Amino acid sequence: MSKLRAKISGIHGWVPPYILTNAELETMVETSDEWILSRTGIRERHILKGEGLGTSDLGAEAVKGLLEKTGIGPEEIDLLICATVTPDMMFPATANIISDKAGLRNAFSFDLNAACSGLLFALITASKYVETGMYKKVIVVGADKMSSITDYTNRETCVLFGDAAGALLLEPTEEEIGIMDAITGTDGSGRVHLHMKAGGSVRPPSHETVDAREHYIYQEGQPVFKFAVTRMADVSAEIMERNNLAPADIAYLVPHQANLRIIDATARRMGVGKEKVMINIDRYGNTTDATIPLCLWEWESKLKKGDNLILAAFGGGFTWGSIWVKWAY
Ligand code: UT7
Repeated sequence: MSKLRAKISGIHGWVPPYILTNAELETMVETSDEWILSRTGIRERHILKGEGLGTSDLGAEAVKGLLEKTGIGPEEIDLLICATVTPDMMFPATANIISDKAGLRNAFSFDLNAACSGLLFALITASKYVETGMYKKVIVVGADKMSSITDYTNRETCVLFGDAAGALLLEPTEEEIGIMDAITGTDGSGRVHLHMKAGGSVRPPSHETVDAREHYIYQEGQPVFKFAVTRMADVSAEIMERNNLAPADIAYLVPHQANLRIIDATARRMGVGKEKVMINIDRYGNTTDATIPLCLWEWESKLKKGDNLILAAFGGGFTWGSIWVKWAY
């Protein structure tokens, strides 16, 4: 029997209807549409409104849509992995809640946290379950309600983030398609530049932590920017080099959407033109674990079987990675 590979056999995304524009942000903090657009490329982002709704609601919508679209019954799914930094609660895993809400009665499920690289790390993890023949139908969800950890009095972070979810279906194949190669990295010393100060075991929630606004994203923009530009570009060039992929071989770069300038630098380093880069940061902002599946979902109709895609991300941790995918349909 030839080697099993994991192919992406379906993709679906979901964004909540409420749109937070740069104009509305101008009424909330000292900022301008011009600053946000020129520094980040973001025009608007979607926000999940409503009492009692969380990341699992975003994820469940994406999963239900994926199942409907692919004609697969919820009971057929063996495993669901959810990449998120905004779980519904500390425990149980949001993946379990998504599985429950989407009716996945036979799946085992768990969360994975690698910040903005989470979707890539989850995809690689899931692919191993498929390549070994252990599971036949695996769903990877990237879902984040970033608005739940965004401080809307802090102009340095509140303009960046949005809420969304995306879900991918992985299945085995003996063809030379699917997840072909992956590179990943972490550097925990980078945690000082991007983290949430309180709410974990080191600094459990208290009146003091709430008063000090420590349950929100803390980001030092410039050092994170510097690392992100270098790492995302390096790792994307490296995966091309070690697989002998020339710019002409690449159908699309699918980058994490944190900042248009980081995306541009990555594309330049790979030598691919802008027409080959999936960019939707203008409409969704940084949705953390959902950025890459949202891109694939929006570009799905343009993709052809055998297209070479380079998925690339950089995020808190620090974490980074790239995956070479040969599109399966
Ligand atoms: O996805 C996970 C990984 N995260 C990232 O990859 C994010 C990486 N970092 C970035 O994308 C950028 O650093 C930011 C978009 C966060 C910030 O852009 P920047 O060009 O690095 O701006 P800056 O932080 O150097 O700030 C420049 C100026 C400052 O004013 P002064 O000190 O020059 O007077 C800021 O106070 O812009 C000011 N500023 C703003 N002005 C208007 C910061 N935020 C805003 C704002 N509106 N929203």
